[in-house]
This record gives sequence, structure tokens and C-alpha cells, in this order.
Amino acid sequence: MQTITTAAELRHALEHARKSGKRVGFVPTMGYLHDGHMALVEASRARGDITVVSIFVNPTQFGPNEDLDSYPRDFLRDEQLCRDAGVVILFASEVCEMYPSGFETFVDPGELAKPLCGAFRPGHFRGVATVVSKLFNMVQPDVAFFGQKDFQQCAIVRRMAIDLNLPIEIVTVPTVRETDGLAMSNRNRYLADEERRRALAISRGLFAAADKFHSGERGVENLIAVARDQIITVDRLQYLALVDNLTLQPLEGSVRRTSALCVAAYIGSTRLIDNVILPLPTES
Ligand code: PAJ
Repeated sequence: MQTITTAAELRHALEHARKSGKRVGFVPTMGYLHDGHMALVEASRARGDITVVSIFVNPTQFGPNEDLDSYPRDFLRDEQLCRDAGVVILFASEVCEMYPSGFETFVDPGELAKPLCGAFRPGHFRGVATVVSKLFNMVQPDVAFFGQKDFQQCAIVRRMAIDLNLPIEIVTVPTVRETDGLAMSNRNRYLADEERRRALAISRGLFAAADKFHSGERGVENLIAVARDQIITVDRLQYLALVDNLTLQPLEGSVRRTSALCVAAYIGSTRLIDNVILPLPTES
């Protein structure tokens, strides 16, 4: 595995790697890797791609009162995990190259960035779309892998790839969970033991609603109520919404096409997000 820190070196290494005729699979991350990230790496490896992982804690996607400075980092451990997982190139860009002085050009997502997390984290998805498009330009992957855990991010990146004519296949990988159901996230490490236990209400609520859906319930209010029964115990609920899988607009009445039940909530001062997809085979 090569660890690379500049775009010029990356271009050179990729030219070499592409000569094998294999496709380039790309997994963008902010590091401090866990099994959720590694599932994306495995998905890329399983397709026989040359796998490139990036680690970059992107300042433009953090709000002024968010955890940019305290965001966990352990580069040596990440490097070892990538090496063991068969990653070919680990790209760790420097802030001064990603955002050189005078930087002023952003990618601004539209309606998809407005609801859900977008309503509570102004500018977040503008930062995500900007850095992901810059990383796409640097890596020029054939396929890129994103986790369903960040459901809105997946929708925005897919839309961006279409809108900006990026010849990149976007693959969504299912959420990896702890054995008790909590969605893996770097922010779980902020939870004290008692908070960690209470955080389970989130996945339990989502699973209870998904069970109800799979046993035939289609009423939007009923499904949300089933989830809310459990999720009510969080310290602060930002949103609990049943939205169209593609437009992210809230559903009304009954579920008639594939949708997602999405939640963002605080346990103590830690903000957690999670979602479940409610699939419907025949879409009308
Ligand atoms: P980060 O939070 O490090 O996540 C990197 C990728 O791992 C994202 O696609 C995310 O959805 C996925 N991921 C995180 N937890 C997961 C889990 N439990 N199961 C499956 N996948 C999971 O998301 C970002 O970084 C940034 O916004 C980024 C796209 C790198 C742009 O800066």
C-alpha cells in the first residue's frame, strides 16, 4: 500500500495502477476507521477494484459549534487497517492543498440538501459536495462507495454525479451496526456508558417501525408513532421523518413507494443519526 499526501503524487500513482486494466474503487472518509468504513473497503475489494481510501477531516462541512477540533484521529492505526484490508492507495490530503489560500469555489446542492440534517446543519452538505467533488477530480474513480448510515449524503452525491456529468458509479453500502443494533459512528465514542445504553432507543425505534412495515402497516403516522414510542427517551429529537427514498420529501397518508425512516437525536451532547429503508418492490 502506498500512503500519499499530494494530488500530484496521487495522479502519478494512479496512472501506474490503472495500467493493470482494473477499475478504481474509491472510499472517501474522515478517518478514525471502524467496521462501517471497512465494509465500504470490502465492497470495493469484492468487485476486484483497485481500492483508494481517502482520509481528510473536511473543515468546510463542520459548523462553527461542531466538533472539528475534537474530531477523533489516529492516522497510524487507520494506515494499518487499510494495509491489512488490501487498500492499494491511502490518500491523506493536507488542508492547505485541498483549500489553498484564496479558495472560493463551492459545489452547492439544491433541494435534497434542505430537509433532515440540512435543516439543522446549514452549509454542511455544501461542504460535503465540495470536498467529494474535489476528491472525485483528484482520484477519478470508476466507482465510489458511500454508507447508507449517511442517507442524505448518499442522495446528494448521487444527484451531484448526475448533475455534474461525473462518469462515476455511486454504490450505497448498508449500515454496519454494533451487535446490539447501534449504528457504528465515530461519534459513539463521545457517549458515556449510561448514554450508550440510552442511545439504543434510536435503532430500537427504527427496527420496531420496520417490523410493523414488514407485517403490512403502510400508514405514515402509525409507522412514525411506533418509532417515536421508543425514540421519545432521547434527550433532544431533531427529526423523525418518513421520507421518499429519492426526493427526501416527507410522505403523507400511506407509504406507496420505497421510503426511508430517518432520525437525528441528541443523547447528552452527542448528535446521532440513523435510518432504515422501507422497501416496496412495485413502485407507483
Ligand atoms: P465519514 O463519517 O468518515 O464516513 C465515511 C463513509 O463511511 C461514509 O460514506 C459513511 O456513510 C460511511 N459510514 C460511516 N459509518 C458507517 C456505518 N456504520 N455503516 C456503513 N457505512 C458507514 O461521511 C463522511 O466521512 C464525509 O462526509 C465524507 C464523505 C468523507 C466527505 O468529507
